Amino acid sequence: MRFAVPLAVVASLGLALADQSFLGFNSGATTDSKKPKKQADFEKEFDTAQKLRYSPGLFNSVRLYTNIQAETTDTPIEAFPAAIKTNSKLLLGIWCSGTTSIKNELTALSTAITKYGSNFTNLVVGISVGSEDMYRISDSGIKNKAGVGQGPTTMVKFIKDVRASLKGTPLSNIPVGHVDTWTAWANKSNKAVIDEVDFLGTNLFPYYEDDKGNDISNATSVFEYALNSTKSAAGKKPVWITETGWPLTGPDFGQAKATLDNARTYWNTIGCTIFGRVNVWWYELHDSNPDNAAKFGVTKDLSTTPQFNLSCPANSGAPASINLQDTKKSAGSIATVSFMSIAVMCLTWLFSAVA
Ligand SMILES: *[C@@H]1O[C@H](CO)[C@@H](O)[C@H](O)[C@H]1NC(C)=O
Ligand SMILES: *[C@@H]1O[C@H](CO)[C@@H](O)[C@H](O)[C@H]1NC(C)=O
Ligand SMILES: *[C@@H]1O[C@H](CO)[C@@H](O)[C@H](O)[C@H]1NC(C)=O
Ligand SMILES: *[C@@H]1O[C@H](CO)[C@@H](O)[C@H](O)[C@H]1NC(C)=O
Ligand SMILES: *[C@@H]1O[C@H](CO)[C@@H](O)[C@H](O)[C@H]1NC(C)=O
Repeated sequence: MRFAVPLAVVASLGLALADQSFLGFNSGATTDSKKPKKQADFEKEFDTAQKLRYSPGLFNSVRLYTNIQAETTDTPIEAFPAAIKTNSKLLLGIWCSGTTSIKNELTALSTAITKYGSNFTNLVVGISVGSEDMYRISDSGIKNKAGVGQGPTTMVKFIKDVRASLKGTPLSNIPVGHVDTWTAWANKSNKAVIDEVDFLGTNLFPYYEDDKGNDISNATSVFEYALNSTKSAAGKKPVWITETGWPLTGPDFGQAKATLDNARTYWNTIGCTIFGRVNVWWYELHDSNPDNAAKFGVTKDLSTTPQFNLSCPANSGAPASINLQDTKKSAGSIATVSFMSIAVMCLTWLFSAVA
């Protein structure tokens, strides 16, 4: 009760709900010409994500697939210093397929913890051990020639390895999970992995669901079906949406067509109904997989002006648009910042007075 007044004030300023769920994009380790991304490449990407015009909330979280800088054995990925510089929150990734040991991933992570200290660890919101490993060895993964994967027994072992390696470090309490397709989560043979994780990351792409009636007009049903299937497999464990999106160009897939209009429709009908309410890492800010003919990037050349208007319908429940102006500092934005600082100072005073 003694917090009633200040909390009401906080809520009325719209501050209380900030930072409740993570909003961001995925980021691969290499560029669209398969070169290792350097710190400057990551920085540009993370900076663009936060400055997207008419963005429905601040996209300041990044999901990575590996801790290792591309073309090195176990050097920490340069996304880490870029995240520190841009104050981006990190969902870390451990690459688990095609290997019998994740030792190099864990070495890269512990080197980063030592090297960057709390500047780094304070940004980490979770760690995903693996990405679509069990999908790749499933019937549909094999049919789609998805590549080398990993079975549930190995995934459970790797998750335990990660927990053991984080013990006694500043990251010992972060959520440890795994990312896979909804089909892999719904497959009962993979239940041991669900028992082992703190969260389930799910990758949902109605575009690829060619046996589900995947015309864009049915995207909401297909998305809900896939999300619901993950949730029922998850039981009480949290489900994070680690990849979702619709390609702007590329081949047809079943009834799905890759067009700018459909990508915008998908953003509006799916993205705008989840942003700010569940953890979402959208696929994708900028394409970096030259082997995929479908192109999902919402920006071209990392421009802060996206390919379509990102603002969400007013009644969608998504955060209001930000970055309405070009990002150069105007007198107006400085005035807003100082108003906010004064508001925060008053609230700090209120809290201490009431406590
Ligand atoms: C952490 O960030 C602060 C402020 O930028 C800097 O002074 C300090 O050297 C950084 N620490 C490490 C270990 O990088
Ligand atoms: C279910 O999962 C197991 C283990 O990951 C896999 O071997 C099997 O092929 C999967 N089933 C289907 C129908 O894909
Ligand atoms: C829409 O999607 C749902 C769920 O996948 C499916 O059952 C239904 O048949 C689809 N509708 C059409 C018209 O294809
Ligand atoms: C998914 O679950 C939600 C909430 O329980 C429900 O409203 C919706 O109809 C379900 N959708 C499908 C396609 O199963
Ligand atoms: C984006 O859409 C919003 C809402 O309809 C509109 O107010 C805004 O002017 C549009 N922005 C751009 C850059 O077209």
